[in-house]
Amino acid sequence: MKEKSVELLNKAVADELSAVHQYMYFHFHCDDQGYDLLAGLFKRTAIEEMLHIEKLAERIIFLKGDVEMIASTEVKKIHDVKEMLDMAIQMEVSSANDYNQWALECSQNADSVSKSLFEELVVDEERHFDQYDDEIENLRKFGENYLALQSIERSKNIAAGRPAD
Ligand SMILES: [Fe+2]
Ligand SMILES: [Fe+2]
Repeated sequence: MKEKSVELLNKAVADELSAVHQYMYFHFHCDDQGYDLLAGLFKRTAIEEMLHIEKLAERIIFLKGDVEMIASTEVKKIHDVKEMLDMAIQMEVSSANDYNQWALECSQNADSVSKSLFEELVVDEERHFDQYDDEIENLRKFGENYLALQSIERSKNIAAGRPAD
């Protein structure tokens, strides 16, 4: 068994679980405030992080380890959209940094499959970063109008009978 790889893969599971919990918490509160676009983005990203856990878990079990399903941090109870996006960006940067580092460590331990898995996850985390960065840029440019537009969009969708994401 490649013990170091299992340890790193489990650290990643813990961070991904924290991301799922945090993003779903953000989803609930964006939904509650009527910001459907952001609510949908947080929900879709949480689902992608859950699929990351699945890939990590499959690798851990292949290496004859076991999956520690414990989140690395508790959910922060943030309700302000700007603070949500700041935190999400911070989380994606830190995941991408960790996975780049852990890919190197797996490579040094002659575990090329775990290395490739971490590299594959970096691609997704950078895309998540980019999506959140675009939203914070919109918020900077359009301020309160950006949020007001999302609420208006919801009213239009409800009036047209289109379900929210
Ligand atoms: Fe992830
Ligand atoms: Fe991510």
